[in-house]
Amino acid sequence: MLKLPGLIDPHVHIREPGATHKEDWDTATQAALAGGFTTILAMPNTIPPTFDRKTLDLGLASAKEKARCDYAQFLGAGPNNADWDAYPDLPPRAAGLKMYLDSTFGELRLDDMTLWMQHFATFPKHLPIVLHAESRTMAAGILLAEIYDRPVHIAHLSLKEEILVVKAAKEKGIKVTCEVTPHHLFLTGGEGKVRVRPRLTAQKDVDALWDNLEVIDCFATDHAPHTLKEKDSTKSPPGFPGLETALPLLLTALHQSRLTIDDIIEKMYVNPKRIFNLPDQPERWIEVDENASYEIRAADQFTKCGWTPFEGWQVKGRVRRVVLRGKDVYKDGEILAEKGYGLDIRE
Ligand code: NCD
Ligand code: ZN
Repeated sequence: MLKLPGLIDPHVHIREPGATHKEDWDTATQAALAGGFTTILAMPNTIPPTFDRKTLDLGLASAKEKARCDYAQFLGAGPNNADWDAYPDLPPRAAGLKMYLDSTFGELRLDDMTLWMQHFATFPKHLPIVLHAESRTMAAGILLAEIYDRPVHIAHLSLKEEILVVKAAKEKGIKVTCEVTPHHLFLTGGEGKVRVRPRLTAQKDVDALWDNLEVIDCFATDHAPHTLKEKDSTKSPPGFPGLETALPLLLTALHQSRLTIDDIIEKMYVNPKRIFNLPDQPERWIEVDENASYEIRAADQFTKCGWTPFEGWQVKGRVRRVVLRGKDVYKDGEILAEKGYGLDIRE
């Protein structure tokens, strides 16, 4: 049995409020625990989006009632909230600020670069700004980090050119960190049900991520549940569930000597804890049976969305037990934490 710290996922879409037929705070945090995560950071592209006091209060109220693991909620960067000096009490209550510079699911894309500048200038420097920014937009976001001398975290980096730019920026001492999803490490491009943002890439991109593992700060799932019916429709929304498949996929890669156990601990615990300035959780660990082989099946998952892009994959490494604040919160396929056991780590 392998003992690891409780994992931290800095990129999860909960769907509450607004789309709880896809997922809610209860099912998302059950999926998190089953996947070995004891803390998740929730993205702001809810309906309504989490932009201000009212919407932050709304999301956090559902979380308080239902979450079974610890959490924090991101604020979204919008057109009308770019002056953070006007609400100094809000940023410290959030996981950080999420800025959408490129198109994805939801209506949060910011096109006006002067708004990007205002957000960078006024959001407190000790809290992270996370960018959905691809390719050249990503390079522009890194320039803003340099201009405003503040840290920036690149969400779900996927392309060879992106990892090479981040590597070069780090070598120059620019305060940039990045995360990569398991689906961008294990899958290559296609259309239909596989739609996701950023798109799945070519083999050369996947190879570049594996060749530059030391540049990747975090593995983040970008758990983005949409129902099977929605995914199969002609207007298939982009996004994959990922909370329950991330660790087994990475442990399988560990068996194949594609990475080390220290890579997993660093990128799924140590670095997200540091980058997002997260507190210690007392008596918190997970136990993994490294040699247990099993087949990934949507039918066995806690997420409400009812499918996984890894259906039928054979993996090696199963989460057996999750302990949080001294209590067994997951054991052998069963969720043991009550609704509301999870804490807001910014409270
Ligand atoms: C995400 C979603 O569905 O909310 N979709 C996705 O393809 N990744 C949006 C996002 O991560 O920005
Ligand atoms: Zn996302």
